[in-house]
Amino acid sequence: MTPIELEEQDATGVDRGPVLEARDLRVWYGTDRGPVRAVDGVSFELRRGEILGLVGESGCGKSTLGRGLLGLLPDGAARDGELRFQGRDMLALKPREQHALRGRDLGMIFQEPLTRLNPLMRISEHFSETLRTHDKSISKAEIERRSLDVLRVMGIPPTRFRAYPHEFSGGMRQRLMIALTLVMRPAFVVADEPTTALDVLVEAQIIRILHDLRREYDTSLLLITHNLGIIAEACDRVAVMYAGEIVEIGEAREVFSRPRHPYTRELLRSTISLRTTGLNYIEGAPPDLVDPPPACRFHPRCPDAMNVCAQRHPVDRDHGAGTRAACWAADVAQGLVKLDDREAAPLPRGEISVADEA
Ligand SMILES: Nc1ncnc2c1ncn2[C@@H]1O[C@H](COP(=O)(O)OP(=O)(O)OP(=O)(O)O)[C@@H](O)[C@H]1O
Ligand code: SF4
Ligand SMILES: [Mg+2]
Repeated sequence: MTPIELEEQDATGVDRGPVLEARDLRVWYGTDRGPVRAVDGVSFELRRGEILGLVGESGCGKSTLGRGLLGLLPDGAARDGELRFQGRDMLALKPREQHALRGRDLGMIFQEPLTRLNPLMRISEHFSETLRTHDKSISKAEIERRSLDVLRVMGIPPTRFRAYPHEFSGGMRQRLMIALTLVMRPAFVVADEPTTALDVLVEAQIIRILHDLRREYDTSLLLITHNLGIIAEACDRVAVMYAGEIVEIGEAREVFSRPRHPYTRELLRSTISLRTTGLNYIEGAPPDLVDPPPACRFHPRCPDAMNVCAQRHPVDRDHGAGTRAACWAADVAQGLVKLDDREAAPLPRGEISVADEA
């Protein structure tokens, strides 16, 4: 990908450079079987106030990428490549500096957040503790003002400020958790499946909240979800991940209406309607990330696979209308590359199953 100037400015002098920039980012877990390469050379950027959706089958590395961006990885995990947040080199920061950034400028909304509220503490105390961790001198009045402001955005009445967590419904507690992340006004938030286990009504509220979030706080968001309906309604762009790699990224509308990558196409096709969830209906299983297939990782499952796909890794290319994709067939369809007859011949099925077993 072409490097993006960090100090890009528009005519009014407003900084329009990316908030977050990843170049060839890798994250792996050390295991007895060898490294699990859960994020393997991912590049993208996120602009101010932008919502980027991240989709892909279970186990493709979405949560690892989200946590890797925030430096929230377990012991035994490692990162390399390039990662810049507001121009700062995140991989060069000391653990203490990273910790200070998290919670203040970087936030995470977890998959199962309900356990993180202390049942013995009032909501007001949760807010005050969160705000004081990062600013010891903050006044009581300021705590209340900021907390009530974010509760309003989350649709929680101010009369509930001094209530205890058990006095709220599951959906409301979810929103409280989001509010506790947002009260710090982070520049970048990772939301990992925030709608899992929530009903459709709450889902619709979450979409509205995500829109408000951008309007009120200019927060950039990486939204991980299996729900393509939410991506279509809430996200500006979408990144499609397969076996540790981003295989296609672009404007959500464009990617949904004109997917370039066969995996994106199959993912959309496997979802009966944009309202349904569950993306695991593509034939074959996702590969083992300790020893993924060579060249294009999707080749053992790809209906369009050609000989070249099992030999050379596809190149991440600009496919027009703001979309980037890494796929030989898409390159040929767009006239971006010319393959010789042998390379362009369909990959024999036998070879596909051999590669599958490899
Ligand atoms: N702590 C860990 N140690 C070793 N391997 C791990 C660890 N956490 C995740 N993995 C592996 O890394 C890969 C990516 O996992 P990850 O949780 O990032 O996927 P995901 O896309 O978020 O999946 P899901 O949709 O199910 O949440 C998987 O193969 C998983 O088994
Ligand atoms: S590179 Fe080949 S195998 Fe991979 S997705 Fe494209 S066509 Fe399919
Ligand atoms: Mg996950």
